[in-house]
Amino acid sequence: MPFELPSLPYSQDALDPYISARTMSFHHGKHHAAYVNKLNELIKGSPMEKQTLEQIVRATANDVGKVAIFNNAAQAYNHEFFWHCLKPKGGGNPVGVLAERLNATFDSIEKFKEELKNAAVTQFGSGWAWLVLDQGNLKVVKTSNAMTPIAQNQTPLLTVDVWEHAYYLDYQNRRPDFVQAYLDNLVSWEYAAGNLEAALTRTTR
Ligand code: FE2
Repeated sequence: MPFELPSLPYSQDALDPYISARTMSFHHGKHHAAYVNKLNELIKGSPMEKQTLEQIVRATANDVGKVAIFNNAAQAYNHEFFWHCLKPKGGGNPVGVLAERLNATFDSIEKFKEELKNAAVTQFGSGWAWLVLDQGNLKVVKTSNAMTPIAQNQTPLLTVDVWEHAYYLDYQNRRPDFVQAYLDNLVSWEYAAGNLEAALTRTTR
């Protein structure tokens, strides 16, 4: 099989009580796993078996005949990215270049957090809220279902999954509480900062 379910970068219970081990066992062990398995099934015997997840996402993004492949590849990509946006004892505030850029774009870190939370809470139905780099500018965007910034010529820096499977067992319908817990206790600013640094290095090379 070309793609395997990547391991979590921490133990299943590491984010408790903000995200329970039970949620992680379903979210990573069932939902994320299902996207990977389905993708393998859909691309079996095709040249896509030799491509990366990103290549498959970009190649199938606007192809009406390949919607199922896109959905599963994009969800596999988004989830792998999302796990790294979380860490035990996360939260607090970013530092360095990321903090400077957030302050310059959104006036303050607090205003950025409000904007990300607003995007997450107002995403109608399933989807994602993101901090992205778009033509050199930081932006908060939201995407529906499996849609991902890499299919829209944007570089993702940070995300929060707002599909119900991300929070329903722990928070039921209280999505705003889940997003607040993400910002206060889980978010890995280091991961976002690393993504920004890598993107800036690429553009100035
Ligand atoms: Fe998810």
